[in-house]
Amino acid sequence: MNAKIEQLLEEIAGLKAQKAQDLEEIRTRLLGKKGDITRLFEDFRTVSPEQKREFGQKLNALKQAASQKIEELRAALEETAGATSSSFDPTKPGDVQELGTRHPISITREEIISIFKKFGYALAEGPEIEDDWHVFGALNFPPEHPARDMQDTFFVSPGGENPILLRTHTSSVQVRAMEKMPVPIRIVCPGRVFRNEAISARAHCIFHQVEGLYIDKGVSFADMKQAILLFAKEMFGEQTQIRMRPSYFPFTEPSAEVDVSCNICGGKGCNICKGTGWLEIMGCGMVDPNVLEACGIDSKEYSGFAFGMGVERIAMLKWQVKDLRHYFENDVRFLREFETSM
Ligand code: PHE
Repeated sequence: MNAKIEQLLEEIAGLKAQKAQDLEEIRTRLLGKKGDITRLFEDFRTVSPEQKREFGQKLNALKQAASQKIEELRAALEETAGATSSSFDPTKPGDVQELGTRHPISITREEIISIFKKFGYALAEGPEIEDDWHVFGALNFPPEHPARDMQDTFFVSPGGENPILLRTHTSSVQVRAMEKMPVPIRIVCPGRVFRNEAISARAHCIFHQVEGLYIDKGVSFADMKQAILLFAKEMFGEQTQIRMRPSYFPFTEPSAEVDVSCNICGGKGCNICKGTGWLEIMGCGMVDPNVLEACGIDSKEYSGFAFGMGVERIAMLKWQVKDLRHYFENDVRFLREFETSM
């Protein structure tokens, strides 16, 4: 038995493996069910009690030497064989990395902005947490105007001369631009806005707007109409028509709501346009002289127009999304529908 152990130890020390298969053969030959070492352990049962201690230690050392060698060979094989080792199969198909898609609101916002960029509008952004002056005061909202009411506005700190609040529209960015930039000004202001409204299929307390402002000498209502018509045709198709209905905003005079001809039924009337043939897309108007003066612009020399639209609404009309809440749930089944719209 001693001789066998010595012989095996010698053999183990000189073992080599070229490939994983050699290694497996060595392992079975030594440590497998009928392997040499396994068999020695079986013989060990017949060893006389006096010799058990000595042989036991030798056998254990032998088994350990074998396991250690096999591990060394395995490590060496993996290192040298690298890509061809058994644990890596280069012919296996790769794991599919699913590509994400842009959110429909981002797609729509980018599209609106890129249209106005083509018309020469620059991008302007401002803070979401604003003060009363930039959201209401400078925009000619009388102190008792209902939009300042707790009903619509989320206040951060309601007290004092100039309460801090979450902006309810991105017109606040236009005020900041008029205060800082030299005229002429031609900007679009995209951003998130916040209104204290119950969440439903048609309303949400957080949504996105793109507002625009153009101020120069001699800007007229006709210029505004043309800019909006061109935008509508780019956004909804060449055949699109617009109409304007008189409206009211404290910061514009005159003011209008803009409708586009329904791109679903072509103006004949359907359930999307509720049979009218028209879809409302934005508010607009000539900047009130009070607003220009509040922002330090001479209203006798300069005039301008402003417009503002909800990105969710434009996206709903473009893709006939019936429930606004889909935009906020981030269900991939919904988001994947816009894969081709990128
Ligand atoms: N600020 C208005 C809103 O949030 C939209 C608007 C902008 C209307 C500019 C007229 C001119 O509803």
